[in-house]
Amino acid sequence: MEVVSTSFVNENFGSNEHLEKFCRALPKLELHAHINGSITTKTMRELVERKKEQQPELLEFEIREPGPLSQINDFFELFHFIYKLSNDIPSVKYITRSVIKDFAEDGVKYLELRSTPRADEASGMSKRDYIEAVLEVIEELSSPEYIIVKLIVSIDRRHTLEMAMDTAKLAVEYRAKGVVGVDVCGDPSQGDFDTIKPALHYLNDHGIKLTIHMGELPRNVEEGLSMLSLNPGRVSHVTFLSDEQRQVLIDRKVPLEICMSSNVLCQTVKSYESHHLRDFLKRDHPCILCTDDRGVFGSPCSNEYAIAARTFNLNQSELYTLSHLGIQGIFADDGTKVALEKAMAEWKSINIQQ
Ligand code: IMP
Ligand code: ZN
Repeated sequence: MEVVSTSFVNENFGSNEHLEKFCRALPKLELHAHINGSITTKTMRELVERKKEQQPELLEFEIREPGPLSQINDFFELFHFIYKLSNDIPSVKYITRSVIKDFAEDGVKYLELRSTPRADEASGMSKRDYIEAVLEVIEELSSPEYIIVKLIVSIDRRHTLEMAMDTAKLAVEYRAKGVVGVDVCGDPSQGDFDTIKPALHYLNDHGIKLTIHMGELPRNVEEGLSMLSLNPGRVSHVTFLSDEQRQVLIDRKVPLEICMSSNVLCQTVKSYESHHLRDFLKRDHPCILCTDDRGVFGSPCSNEYAIAARTFNLNQSELYTLSHLGIQGIFADDGTKVALEKAMAEWKSINIQQ
């Protein structure tokens, strides 16, 4: 792909309005979206309204519109509040429903949502209940005409091996009901990846696909080869890599979940112009543009395409190719891949002049 840097208006589109309209209409795949990070401020406020009688302390928290964070740690603090909103089964369902609808309205046609199953003693919710609640909403809303949705179960890198094994076993058990993989996430400044590694070996043995948050901070470089030894189907971020790790990703053509806004707003990447997506695009390496946490960063999937288009001067065909390449990286079965190929080709024949 030809990658040219431009500071603002993309000359292929004439106006930003035209570019944004195209990016919304483009059929997109979203493969890296954390459910609790994707709750918009609007949904947060609705939940506070629903819960304020039982949890009046929620009113004390100032819900701010998304913007730059002073450091990645601020962002993990925010989840203390968000988890008070998603502490029972009806709230988990409410959130999942609104998150799916938000992605569908933004033109996402295939969505792999991810979430860390959580128990809540006060409401009596177990990790199993949490997964079932999310899967029930997915079952209710997912359809090829609207949006196809699958679930990735997350293991937090701060968890003990016992907790990670519990989650891994649930992922295997719920595979037939829509769980397509397991993610390793959580505060990259904490935890030791090798602690939870036996749970990931267990998932490898059971044929469950893995996606791993990799190289978010410089300290994560030393874990990279251990992560790659598990043969993940995809990895995300890859901001800090050793040369050897970069070469393994390239040689194996491991699809990358790229989260530009997340990286720039968390200040792990200095600017869009210096984003490492540039190097991978030049190699035509499969990269999928993802939101990570739309509720925190305020950037819908269509906006990630608009940012990439402005930053690298991409035209309609190149944006389509970028979205289309993502099909290689999805965790759903081959039938779903074929259906997506067909739907995207049809859209292209109508909407993009050769
Ligand atoms: P949940 O898994 O649906 O509860 O979504 C929120 C969780 O996702 C957070 O508590 C983090 O563990 C994880 N998460 C969200 N964004 C990131 C990220 O950029 N890096 C690592 N973990 C993340
Ligand atoms: Zn993430």
